[in-house]
Amino acid sequence: MSFVPPRIAPPAKPLNRLAFIAAFVRNPLSVVPQAAYDGDLVAVMRGRTPIVWITAPAMIKTVLLDEREKFLKLAQIRLLGPLLGKGILTSEGADWKWQRQASAPMFRPQELAGFVPTFVRAAERVIAGWRAQSGAVQPVDRCMTEATFEVISATLLPSADERMPQAVERSTGLFQRSGAWGQLYAVANLPTWLPQPGRRSMARAVGALRAAVAALIAERRAHPRTKDDLLHRLMHARDPESGQSMNDEQLVDNLLTFYLAGHETTAKALTWTLYLLARSPEWTRALEEEIARVTGGAEIAAGHIEQLVLTQQVLKESMRLYPPVPLMTRQAVADTRLGDHPIRAGSSVVMPIYAIHRHAKRWEDPDAFDPARFAPQREAAIPRYQYMPFGAGPRICIGMGFAMMEATAMLATLLRHARFAPVAGREPAPVARVTLIPGGGMPLRVSVRP
Ligand code: HEM
Repeated sequence: MSFVPPRIAPPAKPLNRLAFIAAFVRNPLSVVPQAAYDGDLVAVMRGRTPIVWITAPAMIKTVLLDEREKFLKLAQIRLLGPLLGKGILTSEGADWKWQRQASAPMFRPQELAGFVPTFVRAAERVIAGWRAQSGAVQPVDRCMTEATFEVISATLLPSADERMPQAVERSTGLFQRSGAWGQLYAVANLPTWLPQPGRRSMARAVGALRAAVAALIAERRAHPRTKDDLLHRLMHARDPESGQSMNDEQLVDNLLTFYLAGHETTAKALTWTLYLLARSPEWTRALEEEIARVTGGAEIAAGHIEQLVLTQQVLKESMRLYPPVPLMTRQAVADTRLGDHPIRAGSSVVMPIYAIHRHAKRWEDPDAFDPARFAPQREAAIPRYQYMPFGAGPRICIGMGFAMMEATAMLATLLRHARFAPVAGREPAPVARVTLIPGGGMPLRVSVRP
């Protein structure tokens, strides 16, 4: 039942400087050397900055948990800060802590259950579009982005007018396109005065987007409603320690953070999962049977999510092979060590989740699609820092519960109505942008049941 889907062929040795830049801009994952997939740590000098890739769970735990005050998110803040300000994703220290604590209650499971009908409606709208041309090839990656965008808009800001989603989409697109350059400049810590492709058009789009969100918040302040969307909850969130609430600048930062962090990622998880299921008729059948048994043929409801065990196993295995966030980076701010290796202050420490999830010595048959690895009793034996699609430590994804519930409800809804088949000669290549995208898109043949 298992097979090996497309993978990146890592370079046998770290690339020299010019080859590194050329390959990084095409696909930042393609510079991660073989030794990261079968060793613990690889270090190279690039520009002024040592770049260190780590894949050993003990080292990752040091960076994300035990010595986290020595490893900060400076590259991410530099890359995303112009858009997301000092929101939860792009702040550090006390600034981060209180925003995280204030937002955490919004993501409790009991709060999220009420969103399930929204997830189901978004998936059903996609099906309605496909039904008109059942059997045709569909751009599944684009359809999933539209659907998760609809979800995040409906849960964050159901009352926003049309211009807002359009502005978010425009600036996300620019970020994806100039993303690799931005990542290179940030990870190699290149000087900010150096011209960077796409920087000016991005600055214009970001300015327009932040202004649109600020206007929306001002409108909401002027005409408060009781509507219980996420913006409402964010405006009323209080730090449990100090009682502090967010000012308008912080509301813009966090609203945009949830918009951007909260839809592309889930869209990519669904896109890669549908591809894997298209290649695996056995797992497709197993999921169809599970869904029929759990729901009795009815629409997916909040009470079904926990019982869709195989469906969640497939999602987890899909995020192992194709983690929606393929690379996580921190900058060392003090001289320290990881294992026997000295780490200089200023080093970029990259945790390539994609390589961690395919490590030759830690996974059996690492490149094969085998959702049975996540059967409940086997999943419990996987070490914490060896499987981490949502990150780990105190900065683990705050939207993890939301994303799992959304992906499960949407995947089950799609499978209730449709079957997917690969298109010959159109194998997708994994490419790291901010998220892991299928290079060349994800065309799949979709048959919708009458
Ligand atoms: C399959 C879907 C998703 C994946 C794979 C994912 C992955 C991640 C990862 C790996 C991180 C850690 C980044 C780091 O430490 O450098 C993260 C952080 C974050 N994610 Fe997600 N995410 C997903 C969905 C969501 C959703 C739905 C939301 C919100 C609605 C969200 C909001 C956030 C925020 C705010 C952070 C920053 C947390 C902090 O720094 O305290 N994510 N996510």
